[in-house]
Amino acid sequence: MIKSEYIRSLLLKAKKDVKTIVLPEGEDERVLEAAHLVADDKSAKIIVLGNQEKMQKFFADHGWETEGVTFIQPETSPRLAEYVELLYNLRKEKGLTHEEAEKLAQNYNYFGTLMIKSGHADGMVSGANHSTADTVRPALQIIKSAKKGRSVSSFFIMISNGEPYIFTDCGVIINPSDKELADIALDAAETAIQFGIEPNVALLSFSTKGSAKGVEVEKVQQATRMAQEALQTAEYAGKGILIDGELQADAAVCETVAAKKAPNSPVAGKAKVLVFPNLEAGNICYKMLQRLGGCEAYGPILQGLNAPVNDLSRGCFAEDIVGAIAITCIQATK
Ligand SMILES: CC(C)(COP(=O)(O)OP(=O)(O)OC[C@H]1O[C@@H](n2cnc3c(N)ncnc32)[C@H](O)[C@@H]1OP(=O)(O)O)[C@@H](O)C(=O)NCCC(=O)NCCS
Repeated sequence: MIKSEYIRSLLLKAKKDVKTIVLPEGEDERVLEAAHLVADDKSAKIIVLGNQEKMQKFFADHGWETEGVTFIQPETSPRLAEYVELLYNLRKEKGLTHEEAEKLAQNYNYFGTLMIKSGHADGMVSGANHSTADTVRPALQIIKSAKKGRSVSSFFIMISNGEPYIFTDCGVIINPSDKELADIALDAAETAIQFGIEPNVALLSFSTKGSAKGVEVEKVQQATRMAQEALQTAEYAGKGILIDGELQADAAVCETVAAKKAPNSPVAGKAKVLVFPNLEAGNICYKMLQRLGGCEAYGPILQGLNAPVNDLSRGCFAEDIVGAIAITCIQATK
């Protein structure tokens, strides 16, 4: 039974257009339990990669049905040769040899990503046993950014007292430029819309509207201007997106502080999308809220890719994996 009301609501939504999600870490019991929970709920079809016999035995030992779950062993898959050719053709210009493609396609994260590229799965969730870099790199190389020249970034859905917020980028871009920060803010606004969260976007800083100075503050101010300018273009017209900065975190989310520090801001006090100036700030903040602040945290979820591939924290529980699968299903719904 899934405890989070928010994740249950996403699973319910996912049932309206059932997607196929690949989980490359079938050697992990938490992953197998998540596969069982989602398939049993019929909210997604699941493909698990790993040793077929061991995975089937694990399901049988627990008395779990395998309806809605497919077990695939990449090394013996009849599709392996097809994926090797696909990988080779996609990456040969980058210097990948055929021999290297043969090896790499058997790496489960690459195999899962190639399944998506081939249309055999709609999304992937991995990272219970892999670093963010190892999970994300195949997606960046094979699935690629949805918009040319735009960096892929990541977000967390943070649930505080039942209320969802988007935190970005807490997982991928270590020190974004002003342009990258503006793009992160715009992509996160669209992410918020996709998840039914108000696209009220605050670019965070240690300064509110010029209260402090420094190159760090200037970067956030410039990013805010760039994002606000982009909002005037046809691409974002009529979407109801509000972007403002630079704001301190308290001015962004607390109405009484906002009234004092940024009374004319359309976003201050009611921000739902919090854009951090760099990965250090974002990553530390989300972990503190998760471990000491009692918030639920789901992510890092990638935004800006052509198809959803999502990462897990290595300390995750089966229920966190179910949450990531639910989020991936929503992202896969066009
Ligand atoms: C995401 C990350 C893994 C990519 O770094 P990397 O593996 O060294 O990637 P490379 O620089 O070799 O790039 C690999 C490919 O991805 C592309 N790429 C890298 N970052 C990208 C981004 N943010 N958006 C889009 N494409 C990107 C590169 O252009 C390259 O494409 P190509 O090979 O087709 O030319 C890296 O940014 C990273 O380590 N970030 C921090 C992640 C982390 O540790 N988080 C911890 C908290 S969860």
